[in-house]
Amino acid sequence: MTETSARNMSSAPDVSGGMVRVWDPLIRTFHWSLVAAFAVAYLSAEDLSTVHEITGYAVAGLIAFRLIWGLVGSKYARFSQFLRGPSHTIRYMGEVMRGTEQRYLGHNPAGAIMTVALLLTLAGTALTGWLLEDEGRVAMLPELPQIVTPAYADGDDERNGGRGSEALEEAHEVLANLMLFLIAVHVGGVVLTSFRHRENLVRAMVTGQKCAPDSDDMT
Ligand code: HEM
Ligand code: HEM
Repeated sequence: MTETSARNMSSAPDVSGGMVRVWDPLIRTFHWSLVAAFAVAYLSAEDLSTVHEITGYAVAGLIAFRLIWGLVGSKYARFSQFLRGPSHTIRYMGEVMRGTEQRYLGHNPAGAIMTVALLLTLAGTALTGWLLEDEGRVAMLPELPQIVTPAYADGDDERNGGRGSEALEEAHEVLANLMLFLIAVHVGGVVLTSFRHRENLVRAMVTGQKCAPDSDDMT
């Protein structure tokens, strides 16, 4: 018996009608709320309206929830279930190139890295946005002032009523635009994996259900 099949047999999920529940309701609500909040925050950025601030803080709240749920949530929501070491991930990527990769019931190793990249970049975007709101907040950070205070000292930041520094504005905007790149790769990865394993992963993120695993799949 291979290591994989032994693992599958010991932790096989409940099967009903050829489908199994993978994503719990909170993960699904989290995902689609995040998509909506990010889209509105991004699209409302030009005007700096209350809408931008509220949806930006909504993103921050959703990330905070996800971090907690990654520790105490259902099986496939847990970081310990899907975060894998570099050698496992590199091996998986090689298998993807050769078209021989296993199906994963939860996040595959590439999806796991993308999940972390999306969460970190979103957290950075929300944090820099929050810092931009009030220069007093920057002073609370021990390291940043050496980078950003020259912008205040020059008095060259009138764009936001003097509330933020140019360096922070730049960082906020770069992170928000980095998100667009990550989202494009993320959606591309979802589509590619859906075709490779003949399974609609977008629908799975709506219903929570995926096809029951067979003995070669990683559960
Ligand atoms: C409409 C476009 C999108 C589609 C179709 C989509 C679809 C999906 C799917 C199918 C998964 C599960 C991947 C898997 O099976 O391993 C997923 C996960 C994820 N997506 Fe998206 N996504 C979209 C947009 C976004 C956007 C805009 C963000 C961020 C703002 C995002 C953030 C995430 C995160 C953080 C996860 C990990 C879920 C978790 O474990 O919490 N997605 N997405
Ligand atoms: C996490 C989701 C967020 C996204 C995607 C986002 C995106 C953006 C983008 C793209 C800009 C540049 C607008 C432009 O100059 O064309 C911007 C500016 C700004 N954002 Fe956000 N933002 C987010 C969260 C926040 C939060 C939580 C706050 C604080 C409440 C905030 C406050 C600001 C401020 C003050 C600016 C103006 C900076 C300037 O003067 O250029 N943002 N945001």
